Amino acid sequence: MIAINGQVFERCQVKSLHNLSEHETFRLTGISSDNLNTKITNYKSFTMHYLADTANIEELEKLFYYFPLEGITTNPTILAQEGKKLSKILPLLARLASGKMIHVQMISSRAERMVEEAEMYRSIVGQSCNYFAKIPVTAEGYRAIPLLKKRGIKVTATAVFTHQQAMVAARAGADFVAPYVNRLDNISSHGIEVVGDIVKSFIDFKIPTKVLAASFKTVDQIHRVTLTGCYSATVSYELLERLRSHPMTDMSVEAFEKDGKDLYDIKF
Ligand code: E4P
Repeated sequence: MIAINGQVFERCQVKSLHNLSEHETFRLTGISSDNLNTKITNYKSFTMHYLADTANIEELEKLFYYFPLEGITTNPTILAQEGKKLSKILPLLARLASGKMIHVQMISSRAERMVEEAEMYRSIVGQSCNYFAKIPVTAEGYRAIPLLKKRGIKVTATAVFTHQQAMVAARAGADFVAPYVNRLDNISSHGIEVVGDIVKSFIDFKIPTKVLAASFKTVDQIHRVTLTGCYSATVSYELLERLRSHPMTDMSVEAFEKDGKDLYDIKF
């Protein structure tokens, strides 16, 4: 059993809605931790981690203003959308992501060059961010992962399309693997299932690597990925805006404001 915010959860097996595979998860017991006699040995937070999959400074400023983001992810395509050089944008991203994660993708194809590249970006990003080198899972990428880890650089294995790629990346020492949900869905594969399988194996085999689901085009994909037990996702500004909002929320707030206008007379 574990306790989170005073509530006690127990381990249980659930069936994934999507592929009917069994997942280990935690179920609320209804017991308050105050009444728990069992010694609690494992305290772990399972809140969802959202990262912003954008290099647009305006979008990031808006998001960091209100959204409980864990950090930023970039890749060369995201950078191309901004039409700005990495040398200009990386210091700005690092400033915005201060105290949070920043995942920067390498463009080199040889493992040794990836390491040099990652060292350089680490020096630009500085100490204020939790820096991860994003390494595509090519043959050289797998070779680069342990080399980076030896130098104390954390790694996000990216462009993951299969369960086995994730398993190899984890074996090589990756801290995160980033499976591409929408790109899988678009080639008539099943992104959610791939994420679910990776999550299940990481839990079954007690692999410490985490899953950072990526490449989303709908809020429903993010919703279903979360249901597989994947609690980290990197998401575009547009989708973060969509998933945090609802027209009924806006309508309700509008009605509250109208109804309470003449009644809320306590000064504060
Ligand atoms: C993030 O790490 C990925 O590079 C990104 O989510 C890919 O998304 P896309 O398929 O929308 O380009």
